[in-house]
Amino acid sequence: MSDRKPPQRAPGRQPIRKPDHVLFYGDNLEVLRDQRRIKDESVDLCYMDPPFNSKRNYNQIYNNVGSDDRAQAQAFIDTWKWDDHARSAHKQILGNDEGRYTSPLIELVRGLHGVLREGSLFAYLVGMSARISEIRRVLKPTGSFYIHCDPTSSHYLKLICDAVFCSQGGDFQNEVIWKRTTAHSGANKWAPVHDVILYYSKSGDVVWNSPRLAYEQAYLDKYYRFDDGDGRLYWRDNLCAAGTRKGRSGLPWRGISPTAKGMHWKFTIDRLDELDKEGRIYWPARGTMPQYKRYRDELKGKAVSDFWDDIDRINPVGSERLGYPTQKPLALLERIILASSNEGDVVLDPCCGCGTTIAAAQKLGRRWIGIDITYQSISLVLKRLEDQVGAPAWSELDLRIEQTGIPRDMDSAVALAHKRDDRVRKEFEKWAVLTYTNNRALINEKKGADGGIDGRVYFMTSATINAAMVLQVKSGIVNRGDIAKLHSDMLREGAEMATLITLTKPTGPMISEAKGAGRYHHELMDRDYDKIQIVTIQDIIEERRRLDIPLVKEVLKQGAKDKKKSGETLPLPGIDGSFEDNSPEVTDMVDYLKRGTAEASEAKPERAPAPRAARKKSREG
Ligand SMILES: C[S@@+](CC[C@H](N)C(=O)[O-])C[C@H]1O[C@@H](n2cnc3c(N)ncnc32)[C@H](O)[C@@H]1O
Repeated sequence: MSDRKPPQRAPGRQPIRKPDHVLFYGDNLEVLRDQRRIKDESVDLCYMDPPFNSKRNYNQIYNNVGSDDRAQAQAFIDTWKWDDHARSAHKQILGNDEGRYTSPLIELVRGLHGVLREGSLFAYLVGMSARISEIRRVLKPTGSFYIHCDPTSSHYLKLICDAVFCSQGGDFQNEVIWKRTTAHSGANKWAPVHDVILYYSKSGDVVWNSPRLAYEQAYLDKYYRFDDGDGRLYWRDNLCAAGTRKGRSGLPWRGISPTAKGMHWKFTIDRLDELDKEGRIYWPARGTMPQYKRYRDELKGKAVSDFWDDIDRINPVGSERLGYPTQKPLALLERIILASSNEGDVVLDPCCGCGTTIAAAQKLGRRWIGIDITYQSISLVLKRLEDQVGAPAWSELDLRIEQTGIPRDMDSAVALAHKRDDRVRKEFEKWAVLTYTNNRALINEKKGADGGIDGRVYFMTSATINAAMVLQVKSGIVNRGDIAKLHSDMLREGAEMATLITLTKPTGPMISEAKGAGRYHHELMDRDYDKIQIVTIQDIIEERRRLDIPLVKEVLKQGAKDKKKSGETLPLPGIDGSFEDNSPEVTDMVDYLKRGTAEASEAKPERAPAPRAARKKSREG
């Protein structure tokens, strides 16, 4: 990545290696406040895309109606509600705890409290105020901050960012409008098609690489069409601009006075002499103003405006899609990172989701720090990076990723099992299932009716048939009855195998009960497995025991790679973890497998399984 020289150190002392890549699993406010984790003025660029469910009725959010008022309605996390976290952050801001907050911010929060009262919107703004203040602290003086939001919250966030940044020497740079989709009919208002990205600098001396876009061919052909016979096409640009000047760009040149026309030269008259000598001035045959020859081959590209309509949202069946509900396009993050950081710089995403910022930073040779409060996100980031850098490079990179907050020993696993945070649910279960399956499992978000199945994987049993294994995690005392129950859950779910992941050691009767369920013959691998397997957390942590059956996703991914090479396309199943029996990922995967991968790859190009909406429409139509 960076070619910085290693720091000098005293002989005999072990180097303390600062990893180039750090993934924190936890609340970003806690991570940002911990100086041992992220030091003051150590980050070059921060992009933040916090969760906020603006699809809800705006009046409902604003008027703080009802006890179930939530600013965030994703199935796996309810981040913003007026709870102890919000109360504590509010108190800290009003009391200017440890001098972290600016007076304008304190006054702003005080005022908003009177207007919004204690609901999810105010909880969101208080949470954002605390986080944005910490983000400013960790930014280098040349650092930039981008916050991605939508029109539901952008005006509030702008007030907060102004109060944090502009009152301390920073500046508001832009409000970028990202046109993320096209208009749909249906709503009785103008179709909402854009997101807002607010961009701030920590000081007047900010990193800015002046990104450029290629000119459209039609524009080039229309203007850059003159040729003096040397093959270099040029445009005849004006040599004068509006307004008079007193200096050397306002003087008469070659008998022409720009001042008389209320204008000035774009160059000083000395420079005009030089340009004329170089043959860069076009003199029209009869008397009109000379013009400047602007050559097509010297164009640097056009500056990028603050209206972005050239980056499409994630294609629902494209290979970039990971199935994460709020995934942003890689191209969006690449644009931001290229504009506001240099190679080797540190890019921070405190709400990293499925890791779009991290993937872009990795691709562009930046160091990165990602934080997310859900293990599903962390698992997706790990899986995404593994896919991005390829298996051999991954094992090297893996060693250099510091994964903080993720259980590495039994004590931290027990701590996670007993952690109570009502903003996130079943984190221990998700961590256990995803770690054991190498981040491949689909997480079951449903509660209750399914008898406590925590996750599911699909594996190939032959070239054309797939089967399922269900996984259940237990963090308390377990006994024989748990195995009997898992057995009946497995049969009810139509799965061929089941795995119990347990924090406590299994008893002898449990092991006998599991053995009693019999063996499953895996045709493809010609191997027999216990239908019910028991894995302990200790096995996962200390023995690094992992599921070793080739899963459908692996096979499909390989199939997709092979097809890409041969110019065909095949949609990949998502790995979002928000499992539904009839989720498009699962049904497409099953459909595809049922049609037979082996025959399909030999026969005519595979047709992409239609997205669920399209299938539904065609059934209805
Ligand atoms: C809108 S998503 C980000 C999506 C991301 N830009 C991408 O392209 O994948 C917001 C993320 O913030 C995370 N999050 C919410 N509250 C958090 C907190 N307090 N600390 C860290 N992460 C949090 C959520 O788990 C979610 O993954």
